[in-house]
Parts: sequence; structure tokens; C-alpha cells
Amino acid sequence: MEMHDLVSTGLRYQRGELHVLDQRRLPGEEHWHVCEDIDDLVCLIRGLAIRGAPLIGVAAVVWIAHRAAQGDDVAALTAAIATLRASRPTAVNLMNYLDYLQAELDSGIGNEAMLDKCIAIFEEDVMLCEAMSENGAALVNDGDSILTHCNTGGLATVGVGTALGVITRAHQQGKGIRVWVDETRPLLQGGRLTAWELGKAGVPYQLICDSMAAGLMAKGEVDHVMVGSDRIAVNGDFANKIGTYSLAVLAKHHDVPFYVVAPRTTIDPDCASGDLIPIEQRDAAEVRGANGSFGDCCWAPVDAPAYNPAFDVTPAALVTGWILDSGIYDQQDVADGELAKVYSQLKGSN
Ligand code: MRU
Repeated sequence: MEMHDLVSTGLRYQRGELHVLDQRRLPGEEHWHVCEDIDDLVCLIRGLAIRGAPLIGVAAVVWIAHRAAQGDDVAALTAAIATLRASRPTAVNLMNYLDYLQAELDSGIGNEAMLDKCIAIFEEDVMLCEAMSENGAALVNDGDSILTHCNTGGLATVGVGTALGVITRAHQQGKGIRVWVDETRPLLQGGRLTAWELGKAGVPYQLICDSMAAGLMAKGEVDHVMVGSDRIAVNGDFANKIGTYSLAVLAKHHDVPFYVVAPRTTIDPDCASGDLIPIEQRDAAEVRGANGSFGDCCWAPVDAPAYNPAFDVTPAALVTGWILDSGIYDQQDVADGELAKVYSQLKGSN
């Protein structure tokens, strides 16, 4: 069975192979890794070579498409889905997509139909990003300064991104925006990835240490905070890269609008509130030092105990608006249960 090529910033399916831009080596090296097998893919996801909630999910889906095209039977596809589902625990796009594919498999669809479903998911992520970007850019005024955290662009999705999609769209609309990019400790997705993406897109930005956001807000230098999400509970609480909650608290204190930008595939319909979101704990070495194409360094005692949750939860009360592909939702909308309704209209599942 033939599977056609798929191309995005960080993921390509070409000539029957899955190629992954190894994000651990950016910005110093643009190295494309050919994924050998499912264990390799799981390692790439766990190691953050592939990362960002939508991209993790779509990468897993592309692998299932590849295996369906290769003629794997139901038992093999079911095993692959279970293995990939356990690769990272917080970003729910992975579980949403794989549970949907498993249900289709259980209902008896053949490999060709499975392949079509998977391709539709890839294409849908591109469209969801476009819609979020348009919706969010309408909130941005000429000359605004936007602060963002982590990486939420083309490297985190297969489209233009979530929060970074809004930012680049506002720039393309000629709004003369400035961007403050949190470096995003401990793994520095802001410094390594967002700065790289904004530079390529020609969007004016300045990189800051995470600890500088408060001072900037106090000086009136931030008009909006825009971040992505890894999982949104139906009450509007959401998990995102560690440090997001601090930004939300700071934004509230300084009366700066705080927006979360995400596709409907990031909503967890079974999660009533943020305290139920599983938070991934990562290796202490990530806090003690850093590594990448620049080499390895450790600035703490090599055995220093460290606390390293990859994400934190921002309560809905601190959010000004939820910018989704289907529109912008405020506190009242969320209290009225709109997020669960949006999820139930998942396009890929129609
Ligand atoms: O650990 P990561 O790099 O996968 O975390 C990514 C984030 O927290 C992003 O902000 C989130 O996935 C939204 S991206 C569209």
C-alpha cells in the first residue's frame, strides 16, 4: 500500500521513511534522523528530539500510518498504539489521537481506511493551527509586545503552531509587534527553538531569562502573554511547560491579558480539573546542567538532588481567554462547559 509524502518543519514522511528533525541539536545543527523502529521513535519522543503536544501526537499517528501501509495486522497495530501511548504522560493529544485510532481498529476498519484516518489527522493539525492563528492575531494591536514561553511553533505542531502561530500571523499582518521569548528553563526550548523559529520568520524578538518577566511587566513592557498547552481540563485549568503558572500569576498582578492558545485536540474531555492532570517528572540532570550541539555542561554538584517537573498547571481563574481553532472562549464560556463541546466536534473523528 502506498503512503504519500508528508512534510512539516520538524517531521517528514518521505520515500516510505519517517524523518525527524532532532530538536535536541537545534539551533546549532539541523540534523534529520531517520526513525529505525518503534523503540527508536519512543526514545526520540522521551528524549525531546520530537516534542510539543500536537507534534508528539501526530508523529505517533504517522508511525501508525506507516505500519498500516506496511501491512501490519490488527494485533501489531494495537501493540504499537499501546507502546506509543505510554511514551510521554502529560500531552493529551497523543492519547486523544491513539485512542481514536484504536477505537477505529476495534470497529474493524482495514489498513487502507486506517491510513486515510491518519493522513486526515496530519492535515487537520495544519488547519487547526491556521484557524488558531487567525483567531488569536485578531486580538493583537499594532506595536504590541507579546511575551511567550517554551516553543509552540512549527516545531511543536505540523502547522504554523499555536501561540507562536498567532505571533507570526500578527507579524505577517504588518502589526509591528515585538516578542519577549522566555528562555524556558530547564531545557531551554525558548532560547534554542523559539528564537530559531522567530529568527527564520523575521519576527523581531528579544530573548530573556525566565526571571526577567516580572520586571518587564512592572515597566509596562508586555501587552499580552500567549502560551500553548499540553492538556486542558474541561474546567479550563491547563498544563503547560513549567514556568507557565508563574507567568499567569505575574500577568494577573500586573493586569496583563494572559491567553492560552491550543487546538481542540489538546482538550481532555475526561479531565474535570487541573489537579487530575498527570505531570511528567524528568531527570535531575536536566536541572543540574545542559547539553546540545554545543556540548555538555554541569554547573551543579554532579550528584545534587533536583526537582524537575516538566509542566505546571495554571488555574482557569488566571486565564483571560482560551484561543482555540473554533474561536476565543472567555471565563463565562468555559464555566458554561464550552470546552467539552468543542472537543466533541473533533474533525479527525468524523
Ligand atoms: O516538554 P515539551 O517541550 O514537549 O513541552 C512543550 C510545551 O509545553 C508546549 O508549550 C506545548 O506542548 C504546547 S505546543 C503547541
